[in-house]
Amino acid sequence: MKDIRLPVHIGFIMDGNGRWARRRMRPRAFGHKAGVQNMIKVCNYAFELGVRIVTVYALSTENLSRPQEELDELFDLFRNYFGKKKGKLLEMDVKLNVLGDVSVLPADVQQCIAEITEDTRHCTAGLLNICINYGSRQEIVRAVNAAVATGRFVDESSFKDFLSTGSLPDPDLIIRTGGEMRLSNFLLYQAAYSELYFTDRMWPEFSRRDLEKAIENFSARDRRYGNVRGDKA
Ligand code: IPE
Ligand code: IPE
Ligand code: MG
Repeated sequence: MKDIRLPVHIGFIMDGNGRWARRRMRPRAFGHKAGVQNMIKVCNYAFELGVRIVTVYALSTENLSRPQEELDELFDLFRNYFGKKKGKLLEMDVKLNVLGDVSVLPADVQQCIAEITEDTRHCTAGLLNICINYGSRQEIVRAVNAAVATGRFVDESSFKDFLSTGSLPDPDLIIRTGGEMRLSNFLLYQAAYSELYFTDRMWPEFSRRDLEKAIENFSARDRRYGNVRGDKA
């Protein structure tokens, strides 16, 4: 990937696990398991390419309306992931942060998340945000209430600090797999000028080459931010 302008921050809407499994006549949980494995691979590729911040959408607030059996399977996968991945994150010098309301998770999983967050605090090569029980509208409403509680007016820059992404730069590129062309309540405020990339690939089959293609596509875009000449001019 020569002469490519890399995004600093990529968001992934990891959709299509269920359909990927169904096409293989397997239960949805099989798709989620393959999805978590692929999440690990794709995040590693992104960091290897030099992307600094990766934000993955693992579970939306609205996903909590799914059958309890599917949620329990997802919680088991989170338990397994957070239980095992600390070493690898430390080795890659990647800091982990979970965005969303984790109070719905089993207590031991919450404990694991707290531990791994604390232990990777000092890591600086990359930042991995995992969104769990995350909803952007809920995040914005919470931020507005927190801002109101200070009794002071906010501007765009001070308002950002009340969002769960805080001072992080907005995502430059948001990639959604699974063929749907919507944001499904992901980073609505932060995505104001994100480049959006949609692919029919299901999440478990999204490969390194697919990521490179998405980044190449991003690199060729002209980000004008409302102006007449963009950064390609
Ligand atoms: C995305 O895959 C993962 C989660 C939302 C937890 P889906 O489970 O939405 O898969 P499809 O869209 O049904 O194929
Ligand atoms: C979006 O996928 C949420 C995640 C990938 C975690 P959904 O499958 O929940 O989205 P909709 O329901 O098709 O909009
Ligand atoms: Mg889906």
